[in-house]
This record gives sequence, structure tokens and C-alpha cells, in this order.
Amino acid sequence: MLESMAGLKRSHYCAEIDETLLGQEVTLMGWVQHRRDHGGLVFIDLRDRSGLVQTVFNPQEDPTTHEKSHDVRAEYVLALVGRVRRRPDDMVNPKLKTGAVEVFIRELRVLNVAQTPPFVIEDHAEVTENVRLRYRYLDLRRPSVLKNFVLRHNLSRLTRDYFAEKGFLEVETPVLTKSTPEGARDYLVPSRLSPGSFYALPQSPQLFKQTLMMAGIDRYCQIVKCFRDEDLRADRQPEFTQVDLELSFASQAEIMEILEGYMARVFKEILGVEISLPLPRLTYAESMLRYGNDRPDLRYGLEIQDVTQIFKDSKAQVLAEAGRTGGVVRVIRAPGAATFSRKQLDDLVALAISLGAKGLAWIRLSPDGWQGPLVKFLSEEEKTALVSALGAETGDVLFFGADQDEVVAKVLGQIRQRLGQDLGLVDGSAFSLTWVTDFPMFEYDLESRRWVAKHHPFTAPLEEDAPLLATDPKSVRAKAYDLVLNGTEIGGGSIRIHQAELQNQVFEALGLPLEEIKEKFGFFLEALAYGTPPHGGCAFGLDRLAALLAGVNSIREVIAFPKTQKAACLLTEAPGAVATKQLMELGLKLDLPSD
Ligand code: AMO
Ligand code: AMP
Repeated sequence: MLESMAGLKRSHYCAEIDETLLGQEVTLMGWVQHRRDHGGLVFIDLRDRSGLVQTVFNPQEDPTTHEKSHDVRAEYVLALVGRVRRRPDDMVNPKLKTGAVEVFIRELRVLNVAQTPPFVIEDHAEVTENVRLRYRYLDLRRPSVLKNFVLRHNLSRLTRDYFAEKGFLEVETPVLTKSTPEGARDYLVPSRLSPGSFYALPQSPQLFKQTLMMAGIDRYCQIVKCFRDEDLRADRQPEFTQVDLELSFASQAEIMEILEGYMARVFKEILGVEISLPLPRLTYAESMLRYGNDRPDLRYGLEIQDVTQIFKDSKAQVLAEAGRTGGVVRVIRAPGAATFSRKQLDDLVALAISLGAKGLAWIRLSPDGWQGPLVKFLSEEEKTALVSALGAETGDVLFFGADQDEVVAKVLGQIRQRLGQDLGLVDGSAFSLTWVTDFPMFEYDLESRRWVAKHHPFTAPLEEDAPLLATDPKSVRAKAYDLVLNGTEIGGGSIRIHQAELQNQVFEALGLPLEEIKEKFGFFLEALAYGTPPHGGCAFGLDRLAALLAGVNSIREVIAFPKTQKAACLLTEAPGAVATKQLMELGLKLDLPSD
């Protein structure tokens, strides 16, 4: 028989019960974690958001309540009233915050029953992610899952505080809007009032936040949902949250300083870690050269080095050939890798080939001499030059990539990451932040066979590169900066174009037809002409940041109701079919492939 909580008021959360309350009567409300029947005594561990406390039912004390406690099952919702007592010495549980006390219950009310849950509500429960997401409300009852949301809440709160203190105004921007180009597909929403027309959900508030600068808001911030229909990975969701910022009249250096201050505050308040400022800075070109990608994990070394010159006339054909054909020869020196088995080396070669390399030559500097497929072709001068360029020592393995620049960067970048793992160099508790700056403005899109904006088309070029917009777009560098934490891009931004003429030049370089520009960004270009201040900004991926701070592998762990790889919500079963009537109202008719 279910009861009401009328007349009762919760006095404490479970985990607040401690020795300061000995002898006091408390009223608790929560879920049944365990019920144990010890002959006469019944023990119920009660759980709420704060944690657990042990409660005791004694037949001598109150036979009716004791009798009722027999019917209670896991996850029933109870209200309990009782007195706090010290546990007998041999019953103290030092692992539990409330382990020195227990509550002797005089009144029990069953507020609700529960079916047997599909998994036990415990941190170590063995349960697949799909079952967790299907029953997310049960999953979230587990302390290890809940704690990530406490962290996320603290992160959001300090974010608001920090930027408010710096004079940023929080302004909300629309969700039903027009396409904002951030390089992904749009989620579209059909309009009922204008049949055949669609809103796009924002990939970011980019155009609105720039418009707010035109409006004189001067400093804007927003913790905001963004929507991108792209292939999902551990650090990507179709809807995710940005800490979105924009400032007027501030230089790139000033903006970076404010963002670094934010990072310092985040690490101090969330993890109690002091980070030293200013953060390291790498240009995109340096990052590609030394780490093979634009989001380097700097928790370990294993830098890539260019040795093209050493091998330009080598008898080792694979190396000499690359230099002769406009490519490069680069190498990673991996200290300690000489103990790798042949299989480990073969696996690395296979990884390189799967990434598009023709091979991955290696040289093992073993105590018995140099070993590896290329050694017999190397001259003494080449060996000496290599040792002195790399500081190579016995115990190292040198891994070579010889090909076009981009191929070598990509392959050795990934080999470096694998080596970092295999050599145990990735310290899970370390944090390494770096800026990457001066990105290329454009990249070539093989699919559409044209230049596209690497960041977005509103990013300003470096002054000295602007004249190249018309003649040599691929060499134009942008005033763009990304913040990278342990190999993940957690934020990115840029100084924007604030003059219509330059904006038009960039659209021209992108080969966008005038009609398309007008249709997509007409309002924005018009606004640009009414006195736009110099401005720039940035957006952090709040989910990514929270996941890294929480030390979890996927941003799904810091999103209450995340979507699967197929962008489905297992709890609500979204996306789902809609009624024909709804489609008709929208003027839509489905035309799906029959299989
Ligand atoms: P950008 O596209 O780099 O920049 O996005 C900013 C940050 O958002 C996070 N992020 C994501 N997180 C989870 N799932 C996704 N699908 C996803 N996509 C991006 C990343 C990224 O660094 N308007 C610009 C910012 C600016 O120029 O001010 C923008 O959106 O952590
Ligand atoms: P091959 O001459 O193709 O038998 O290759 C000799 C060695 O060089 C093998 O260990 C290959 O893995 C390696 N190798 C071949 N091509 C390349 C390349 N482009 N870059 C680096 N190593 C290569």
C-alpha cells in the first residue's frame, strides 16, 4: 500500500548524517539501495543524490515498522524517520562517508514501489552503454555517473561568473534560424506558415554574435546549444554545448589573455591545479611539422624531425626518392622502443600503410648495432648526420616517413600518438594545454573541388597575407587560434573581418556566387556596412572540456541524455515517424527508397 509524505519534511540528505547529529531525530527521503535481513534486525541502505546512509529496523523498538520493512525492495522510494546512533565499533565502515553512524527508524512510509531494475544501481555494475542510455534515469542514479554532472554544473557556473566579471553580457540567440556555415550539414526544420521553407538549427551562433558586436554589445557570452549533422565520434554529438564569446576592440593577444585566464580559473576551481600562464603557442605550420596534426598532445615528446637533406643523395631509394620528387623525409626517434617485439613493429608499419603511407621504415639502435630494412643502404656519413641531428642513442628506434608533406605529417602524427601509448608516455593525470595559431584560411575540398574556409568565411587573414587572397589562396594564413588540451581541440576562434570589402574578397576567393552569398548572408553583409567595430571571439566545447576534466573517454558521459553513433536517443527513441497529418500541414510528402 503506497503512502503519502504529507506531514513529513526532509531534514537532511543521506550523506549529511554524521556524528554531529548523534541522538537527533532526522527525516530522510530516498531510494532503497539494499535491504539485508539479519535475523531480527533489518538494515536498509537509503540513497539519495548525496550518497548512502544505513538505517536499522528493530522488532523490539517498533514491531509494525519492522514488519513493513520486510516488504521493501531495491529502488522503492521511502520516507524514513528515526534517531541517529553511533554504530557498534565492529560495524564501522570507513569507506562510507556516513560509515560511523546509522539511523534507528521509528516510521517508514513507502512512497512508491519500483520494478526490479535491469541492472543494479552501483558503480561497478556490468552494463552495456546501450542499456545505460535506454534506462538513463537509472544510470544517473549511480554516483560515478552523477558526479560528472556535478562537475559540469560547477564548470558552467564558474564560466558565467568569470565572463560576467570581465564585463561580458549573456545574450540568447535564436535556435530557429538560417544556416550558419561551420562545415557540417544543417539540421532543418520545416516551416508550417511558409510551406516549402525551412529553418536551420544553428551550427553555432557565429553570425548572431558578430551582429551583436555590430549592435555595440561589446562583450557577449552565451552557454549555448549548437547542432551539427556530422559523423559522430567519442568527442562529437549532433547537439552539443558551446561557451560562445565575442569581443569588440580587442586584439588577438588580449582575447587570448582573457581565455587563458578562464582556463586558469577552470583548472584551479574544478581540479585544484595551477596552470602556468601564458600558455605555449605553436603556429599551425610548426604543429604540423613537429606533431603531424593541428591538435598536438604535448604530454609527451616524440617530436617529428625533418631529415630530408641528410638523405637527398642516399642509396636508400625510398628516402632519396621522396626528396627528389618534392616530398620530405621525416623521422620520429622513439627512446626505449628497441625492446619492441617484431610484431609490435609490424603493427606500426601496418598502421602507417592503412593511413596511406607506402611503408614505415625503421631502424633499431640495438646494442648489437643498427638493424632494420634500410640499414644496409646507409652510408657512414648519413648515420653520423642522423645521430647528431636526432641525438639518437642505443635503445631507440627511428621511424621514417618519406612522401609528400601532408602524407608524412598525417602518418607520423598518428604513429607518434600510438608510440606515446605503447611506450607508456601518456600520463592520464597530466594536463597539457597549448594554442595553435595562424591556421591556413582555406583548404581544398576534394568532394566539391574548390577552396573552402578552414575555420569559417568570417575569419580575417593575417595582414601580410591579405594581398595573396586573389593570387595564392592556399598560402593565406588566418588570424585564427585553437586551444588544445591533451590532443583534443577544446576551443577555437578568430579575429573577424569587419570591413565589407575584405569580406567580399574572401567570398570571391571561396568562389561563392554573388546570388548565393546574398541569399545566405545578405542581412549580415548589410549590417557590416553600418559601422562594424573590429572584433573577434572564440567558442569552447563545453562537453569536451567537461569530459577531459572528469577524466572520461566520451562526451556522452557528461551529457544527461546523449545520442548514439546513429544520432538516436535510446530513451525517447528519437528520431521517430510523424503523423501524415503533420506532414500535410507542413506541405511535405515522404519519398523514401523502398529497401
Ligand atoms: P568550432 O567549429 O571550432 O568553432 O567549434 C568550437 C568548439 O566546439 C566544440 N565542438 C563540438 N563538440 C561536440 N560535438 C561536436 N559535434 C562539436 N563540434 C565542435 C569543439 C570546438 O573547438 N563559431 C566558431 C567559434 C568562433 O569562431 O568563435 C565555432 O563554432 O570543442
Ligand atoms: P621497399 O623498398 O618497398 O621494400 O621498402 C623498404 C622499407 O622501407 C620497408 O621497411 C618499408 O616499410 C619502408 N618504406 C617504403 N616506402 C616508404 C615510405 N614512403 N616512407 C617510409 N618508409 C617506407
